[in-house]
Amino acid sequence: SGAPLVLGVESSCDETGFGLVSEGVLLGQGLASSASQHADFGGVVPEIAARAHLDAAVPTLHLALEDAGVELGDITHVAVTSGPGLATAVHVGLAAAKAVAWSLDKPLYGVHHLAGHAAADTLEHGPLPERSIVLIVSGGHTSILAVGDLVRDPIEHLGDTLDDAAGEAFDKVARLLGLGYPGGPAISRAAVGGDPTAFRFPRAMLRSGDAPFVFSFSGLKTAVARTVERIERAGESVPVADIAASFEQAVVDVLVTKALRAVRERNLSTLVIVGGVAANARLRAVAQERCDAAGIELRIPPPALCTDNGAMIGAVGDLLVRFGADPSGLRIAADPSAVL
Ligand code: KG4
Ligand code: ZN
Repeated sequence: SGAPLVLGVESSCDETGFGLVSEGVLLGQGLASSASQHADFGGVVPEIAARAHLDAAVPTLHLALEDAGVELGDITHVAVTSGPGLATAVHVGLAAAKAVAWSLDKPLYGVHHLAGHAAADTLEHGPLPERSIVLIVSGGHTSILAVGDLVRDPIEHLGDTLDDAAGEAFDKVARLLGLGYPGGPAISRAAVGGDPTAFRFPRAMLRSGDAPFVFSFSGLKTAVARTVERIERAGESVPVADIAASFEQAVVDVLVTKALRAVRERNLSTLVIVGGVAANARLRAVAQERCDAAGIELRIPPPALCTDNGAMIGAVGDLLVRFGADPSGLRIAADPSAVL
């Protein structure tokens, strides 16, 4: 048939992902997560994640092949996350991808993890417009990117968090409210019926003129902790739903305000939101409302493509192949702190 069949491999954090992409279409994927093994630690433990990737690699690749209805030998190109991420975790995916590429004698491409996140939406909604703003919000990242053609144009990193990532803030606040891990879904459930205006938590750097796209969430976490302590000291019961809803509102307010500021400043008309926190219902609703009011198109892929996965890496690989980019080769090294 001649159409490329690109295998994407992702292992930068706690998700082991394989995805099969051909000419912009997702054919199938396999995903395994070690999230539950990190629950007791309140965050991802690199060594545990790496061992889990090693366990999961072969069975998860099989799942992806089955899901797509193809054979290993049908793969024509391999793409893999080379960074950024946890070094030991990235190494396992790289080794798996090299083994597949070498055994099939097919080209191997290294992919930047954030380019993968940006590309995820193309598998759901088709090619991105000429330029767009991408907000990546997960347990590991809080980044605003200005994105053009994902293969031809460099991605511009407009801003990041100075401390905790947005998802990390959810995880830490859930922990101090006794809600368990991962904290995002737990806070969302707890927030149902809560009053998002009950507590006025800080919106850090919302009007920071010199750092318009920079985030900080550690002060918000501290503010929630102080509030809980104060209430407990007063011998009152902690209004968990109100605190969860007010915390959520503060995070969402900052994320959406800064992302829309980037869209307007760059004179663009499309905002893409990806990452695990994009599953948050309040974020989706507030972003939709403010984008509608501003005449901005909002694109958010379904949750399975928002969180880390192999399909998004395959999507970038597929673009690289169709563009005719040079492969990275089998000697490609992990770049745990890769910058864009
Ligand atoms: O993208 P992801 O699966 O993994 C990386 O961190 O790369 O994102 C996981 C993060 C966790 O911090 C989790 O608490 C958060 O996404 N998350 C949510 C929701 N679902 C997951 N945060 C807020 N609301 C949610 N519904
Ligand atoms: Zn990620």
